[in-house]
Amino acid sequence: MSVTESKAVKGFITMANDGWEQGWHERNGGNLSYRMKDEEVKEIANELDHSTEWHPIGASVPGVAGEYFIFTGTGRYFQNVIKNPEESIGIIKLDDKGENYQIVWGLTGGGRPTSEIPSHLMSHETKKAVSGGTHRVIYHAHPANTIALTFVLPLKDEIFTREIWEMMPECSVVFPEGIGVAEWMVPGSHELAVRTGELLKTYNVAIWAHHGMLCSGEDFDSTFGLMHTVEKAATILVKVMSMTGIKRQTITSDNMRALAKDFKLSLDEKFLY
Ligand code: 13P
Ligand code: ZN
Repeated sequence: MSVTESKAVKGFITMANDGWEQGWHERNGGNLSYRMKDEEVKEIANELDHSTEWHPIGASVPGVAGEYFIFTGTGRYFQNVIKNPEESIGIIKLDDKGENYQIVWGLTGGGRPTSEIPSHLMSHETKKAVSGGTHRVIYHAHPANTIALTFVLPLKDEIFTREIWEMMPECSVVFPEGIGVAEWMVPGSHELAVRTGELLKTYNVAIWAHHGMLCSGEDFDSTFGLMHTVEKAATILVKVMSMTGIKRQTITSDNMRALAKDFKLSLDEKFLY
Protein backbone atom coordinates (compact mmCIF):
# COMPACT_ATOMS: atom_id res chain seq x y z
CA MET A 1 0.00 0.00 0.00
CA SER A 2 1.27 3.50 -0.75
CA VAL A 3 1.98 5.59 2.34
CA THR A 4 -0.49 8.35 1.47
CA GLU A 5 -3.27 5.77 1.02
CA SER A 6 -2.86 4.32 4.51
CA LYS A 7 -5.57 5.16 7.04
CA ALA A 8 -3.09 6.58 9.57
CA VAL A 9 -1.46 8.97 7.09
CA LYS A 10 -4.83 9.99 5.62
CA GLY A 11 -6.14 10.79 9.11
CA PHE A 12 -2.98 12.76 9.87
CA ILE A 13 -3.34 14.82 6.68
CA THR A 14 -7.04 15.51 7.33
CA MET A 15 -6.32 16.71 10.87
CA ALA A 16 -3.49 19.00 9.70
CA ASN A 17 -5.83 20.53 7.13
CA ASP A 18 -8.63 20.94 9.68
CA GLY A 19 -6.19 22.92 11.88
CA TRP A 20 -5.16 25.07 8.90
CA GLU A 21 -8.83 25.83 8.17
CA GLN A 22 -9.35 26.96 11.79
CA GLY A 23 -6.62 29.61 11.36
CA TRP A 24 -4.36 28.04 13.98
CA HIS A 25 -1.34 27.58 11.68
CA GLU A 26 -0.01 30.82 10.26
CA ARG A 27 3.08 30.21 8.10
CA ASN A 28 4.86 27.18 9.65
CA GLY A 29 3.16 27.59 13.05
CA GLY A 30 2.24 24.45 14.97
CA ASN A 31 3.19 20.80 14.61
CA LEU A 32 1.56 17.36 14.79
CA SER A 33 2.83 13.86 15.54
CA TYR A 34 1.30 10.38 15.69
CA ARG A 35 2.76 7.23 17.31
CA MET A 36 2.04 4.48 14.79
CA LYS A 37 0.60 1.05 15.58
CA ASP A 38 2.65 -2.01 14.54
CA GLU A 39 0.03 -3.06 11.99
CA GLU A 40 0.05 0.43 10.45
CA VAL A 41 3.82 0.23 9.99
CA LYS A 42 3.54 -3.29 8.53
CA GLU A 43 1.06 -2.31 5.81
CA ILE A 44 3.46 0.30 4.36
CA ALA A 45 6.72 -1.53 5.17
CA ASN A 46 7.68 -1.83 1.48
CA GLU A 47 7.64 1.95 1.10
CA LEU A 48 10.02 2.68 4.01
CA ASP A 49 13.75 3.32 3.54
CA HIS A 50 15.87 2.21 6.51
CA SER A 51 19.21 3.14 4.91
CA THR A 52 18.93 6.83 5.85
CA GLU A 53 21.19 8.60 8.35
CA TRP A 54 20.54 8.96 12.08
CA HIS A 55 20.10 12.30 13.85
CA PRO A 56 20.02 13.14 17.58
CA ILE A 57 16.53 13.82 18.99
CA GLY A 58 17.85 16.28 21.58
CA ALA A 59 16.17 14.26 24.34
CA SER A 60 16.25 10.72 25.67
CA VAL A 61 12.92 8.89 25.35
CA PRO A 62 13.54 5.18 26.10
CA GLY A 63 9.82 4.67 26.76
CA VAL A 64 9.09 5.02 23.02
CA ALA A 65 12.42 3.62 21.69
CA GLY A 66 12.20 1.74 18.39
CA GLU A 67 8.78 3.18 17.55
CA TYR A 68 7.61 4.84 14.32
CA PHE A 69 6.00 8.29 14.25
CA ILE A 70 4.41 10.50 11.62
CA PHE A 71 5.62 14.09 12.05
CA THR A 72 5.09 17.47 10.42
CA GLY A 73 8.32 19.03 9.16
CA THR A 74 10.11 22.01 10.66
CA GLY A 75 9.51 25.16 8.64
CA ARG A 76 6.88 23.35 6.56
CA TYR A 77 3.37 24.81 6.33
CA PHE A 78 0.17 23.05 7.52
CA GLN A 79 -1.45 24.74 4.54
CA ASN A 80 0.66 22.54 2.25
CA VAL A 81 0.21 19.18 4.01
CA ILE A 82 -2.84 18.24 1.93
CA LYS A 83 -1.32 19.59 -1.30
CA ASN A 84 2.12 18.07 -0.91
CA PRO A 85 2.25 15.50 1.90
CA GLU A 86 5.55 13.90 0.90
CA GLU A 87 7.38 17.20 1.34
CA SER A 88 5.42 18.52 4.34
CA ILE A 89 5.34 15.45 6.60
CA GLY A 90 7.47 12.37 7.22
CA ILE A 91 7.71 9.07 9.04
CA ILE A 92 10.59 8.64 11.48
CA LYS A 93 11.88 5.63 13.38
CA LEU A 94 13.62 5.94 16.76
CA ASP A 95 16.70 3.89 17.64
CA ASP A 96 16.65 1.29 20.39
CA LYS A 97 17.82 3.78 23.03
CA GLY A 98 15.30 6.47 22.10
CA GLU A 99 18.06 9.03 21.47
CA ASN A 100 18.27 9.23 17.66
CA TYR A 101 15.85 9.14 14.76
CA GLN A 102 16.01 8.40 11.05
CA ILE A 103 13.57 9.60 8.37
CA VAL A 104 12.18 6.50 6.64
CA TRP A 105 9.62 8.23 4.41
CA GLY A 106 8.76 11.78 3.28
CA LEU A 107 10.20 15.17 4.30
CA THR A 108 11.66 15.30 0.82
CA GLY A 109 13.97 18.15 -0.17
CA GLY A 110 16.13 17.89 2.95
CA GLY A 111 13.28 18.25 5.44
CA ARG A 112 13.52 17.46 9.15
CA PRO A 113 10.81 16.83 11.76
CA THR A 114 9.48 19.82 13.73
CA SER A 115 11.86 21.78 15.96
CA GLU A 116 9.44 20.83 18.78
CA ILE A 117 10.46 17.15 18.43
CA PRO A 118 11.77 17.06 22.05
CA SER A 119 8.38 18.26 23.42
CA HIS A 120 6.47 15.86 21.16
CA LEU A 121 8.53 12.79 22.00
CA MET A 122 8.74 13.50 25.74
CA SER A 123 4.96 14.03 25.70
CA HIS A 124 4.43 10.75 23.80
CA GLU A 125 6.65 8.95 26.31
CA THR A 126 4.71 10.37 29.28
CA LYS A 127 1.28 9.77 27.77
CA LYS A 128 2.09 6.25 26.59
CA ALA A 129 3.04 5.40 30.19
CA VAL A 130 0.14 7.10 31.97
CA SER A 131 -2.55 6.08 29.45
CA GLY A 132 -1.46 2.44 29.23
CA GLY A 133 -0.48 2.98 25.59
CA THR A 134 -3.80 4.34 24.34
CA HIS A 135 -2.66 7.93 23.64
CA ARG A 136 -1.02 8.31 20.22
CA VAL A 137 -1.52 11.92 19.06
CA ILE A 138 0.35 15.06 20.16
CA TYR A 139 -0.85 18.32 18.59
CA HIS A 140 0.59 21.80 18.99
CA ALA A 141 -1.15 24.86 17.49
CA HIS A 142 -1.27 28.65 17.84
CA PRO A 143 -4.98 29.41 18.51
CA ALA A 144 -5.29 33.17 19.04
CA ASN A 145 -7.86 33.37 21.86
CA THR A 146 -6.10 30.90 24.12
CA ILE A 147 -2.82 32.75 23.54
CA ALA A 148 -4.50 36.12 24.27
CA LEU A 149 -5.65 34.85 27.67
CA THR A 150 -2.04 34.11 28.67
CA PHE A 151 -1.39 37.87 28.66
CA VAL A 152 -4.18 38.69 31.11
CA LEU A 153 -4.91 35.68 33.37
CA PRO A 154 -2.45 34.54 36.08
CA LEU A 155 -0.44 31.60 34.67
CA LYS A 156 -1.91 29.06 37.09
CA ASP A 157 -3.50 25.70 36.28
CA GLU A 158 -6.33 26.37 38.73
CA ILE A 159 -7.26 29.72 37.21
CA PHE A 160 -7.08 28.68 33.54
CA THR A 161 -9.01 25.48 34.22
CA ARG A 162 -11.70 27.22 36.21
CA GLU A 163 -12.14 30.16 33.82
CA ILE A 164 -12.30 27.90 30.74
CA TRP A 165 -14.59 25.31 32.40
CA GLU A 166 -16.95 28.13 33.33
CA MET A 167 -17.59 29.11 29.70
CA MET A 168 -19.33 25.92 28.51
CA PRO A 169 -20.63 22.90 30.43
CA GLU A 170 -19.02 20.50 27.96
CA CYS A 171 -15.53 21.68 28.99
CA SER A 172 -15.42 19.81 32.29
CA VAL A 173 -16.91 16.77 30.52
CA VAL A 174 -14.27 16.83 27.75
CA PHE A 175 -11.28 17.59 30.03
CA PRO A 176 -12.29 16.77 33.64
CA GLU A 177 -8.62 16.54 34.63
CA GLY A 178 -8.17 20.27 33.86
CA ILE A 179 -5.54 22.29 31.99
CA GLY A 180 -1.83 22.73 32.74
CA VAL A 181 -0.06 26.04 32.09
CA ALA A 182 3.63 26.49 31.32
CA GLU A 183 5.23 29.90 31.71
CA TRP A 184 6.98 31.31 28.61
CA MET A 185 10.00 29.28 27.51
CA VAL A 186 12.06 29.19 24.34
CA PRO A 187 10.16 27.29 21.60
CA GLY A 188 11.77 23.95 20.78
CA SER A 189 13.86 23.99 23.99
CA HIS A 190 14.64 21.02 26.20
CA GLU A 191 13.31 23.03 29.16
CA LEU A 192 9.89 23.41 27.48
CA ALA A 193 9.87 19.69 26.62
CA VAL A 194 10.56 18.67 30.24
CA ARG A 195 7.89 21.05 31.60
CA THR A 196 5.33 19.82 29.05
CA GLY A 197 6.10 16.17 29.83
CA GLU A 198 5.55 16.97 33.54
CA LEU A 199 2.18 18.68 32.89
CA LEU A 200 1.00 15.78 30.71
CA LYS A 201 1.37 13.34 33.62
CA THR A 202 -1.84 14.94 34.92
CA TYR A 203 -3.42 16.80 32.00
CA ASN A 204 -4.24 16.27 28.30
CA VAL A 205 -3.94 20.01 27.60
CA ALA A 206 -0.87 22.18 28.17
CA ILE A 207 -1.03 25.90 27.42
CA TRP A 208 2.32 27.47 26.54
CA ALA A 209 2.19 31.12 27.66
CA HIS A 210 2.41 33.69 24.83
CA HIS A 211 2.90 30.86 22.33
CA GLY A 212 0.13 28.26 21.95
CA MET A 213 -1.41 25.03 23.14
CA LEU A 214 -0.43 21.34 23.09
CA CYS A 215 -2.99 18.54 23.35
CA SER A 216 -2.69 14.78 23.71
CA GLY A 217 -5.27 12.17 22.77
CA GLU A 218 -6.01 8.65 21.62
CA ASP A 219 -6.92 9.47 18.03
CA PHE A 220 -7.02 12.36 15.57
CA ASP A 221 -10.68 13.31 16.10
CA SER A 222 -10.62 13.42 19.89
CA THR A 223 -7.31 15.32 20.02
CA PHE A 224 -8.52 17.87 17.48
CA GLY A 225 -11.85 18.11 19.31
CA LEU A 226 -10.02 18.79 22.57
CA MET A 227 -8.03 21.69 21.09
CA HIS A 228 -11.21 22.97 19.42
CA THR A 229 -13.22 22.87 22.68
CA VAL A 230 -10.56 24.74 24.70
CA GLU A 231 -10.16 27.39 22.00
CA LYS A 232 -13.95 27.79 21.63
CA ALA A 233 -14.30 28.38 25.38
CA ALA A 234 -11.30 30.76 25.28
CA THR A 235 -13.04 32.68 22.49
CA ILE A 236 -16.15 33.09 24.64
CA LEU A 237 -14.04 34.21 27.61
CA VAL A 238 -12.22 36.80 25.49
CA LYS A 239 -15.61 38.15 24.33
CA VAL A 240 -16.96 38.29 27.90
CA MET A 241 -13.84 40.06 29.18
CA SER A 242 -13.89 42.45 26.22
CA MET A 243 -17.54 43.38 26.77
CA THR A 244 -17.53 44.24 30.46
CA GLY A 245 -14.93 42.23 32.34
CA ILE A 246 -17.68 41.47 34.82
CA LYS A 247 -19.81 38.32 34.65
CA ARG A 248 -23.33 39.10 35.82
CA GLN A 249 -24.07 35.37 36.11
CA THR A 250 -22.05 32.24 35.45
CA ILE A 251 -21.73 28.47 35.85
CA THR A 252 -20.96 28.24 39.58
CA SER A 253 -18.85 25.76 41.51
CA ASP A 254 -22.05 24.08 42.71
CA ASN A 255 -23.35 23.89 39.12
CA MET A 256 -20.10 22.11 38.20
CA ARG A 257 -20.43 19.72 41.15
CA ALA A 258 -23.99 18.89 40.00
CA LEU A 259 -22.79 18.32 36.42
CA ALA A 260 -19.97 16.11 37.71
CA LYS A 261 -22.49 14.01 39.63
CA ASP A 262 -24.73 13.48 36.60
CA PHE A 263 -21.87 12.87 34.17
CA LYS A 264 -19.94 10.74 36.71
CA LEU A 265 -16.83 12.95 36.50
CA SER A 266 -14.30 13.38 39.24
CA LEU A 267 -13.43 17.09 39.28
CA ASP A 268 -10.59 18.16 41.57
CA GLU A 269 -11.92 20.53 44.29
CA LYS A 270 -8.88 22.77 43.74
CA PHE A 271 -10.61 24.05 40.58
CA LEU A 272 -13.94 24.64 42.32
CA TYR A 273 -13.08 27.60 44.53
P1 13P B 1 8.28 24.06 13.35
O1 13P B 1 8.15 24.70 11.99
O2 13P B 1 9.71 23.68 13.65
O3 13P B 1 7.32 22.90 13.54
O4 13P B 1 7.94 25.16 14.45
C1 13P B 1 6.68 25.74 14.51
C2 13P B 1 6.26 26.06 15.90
O5 13P B 1 5.09 26.27 16.13
C3 13P B 1 7.27 26.08 17.00
O6 13P B 1 6.65 26.10 18.25
ZN1 ZN C 1 4.61 26.90 18.19
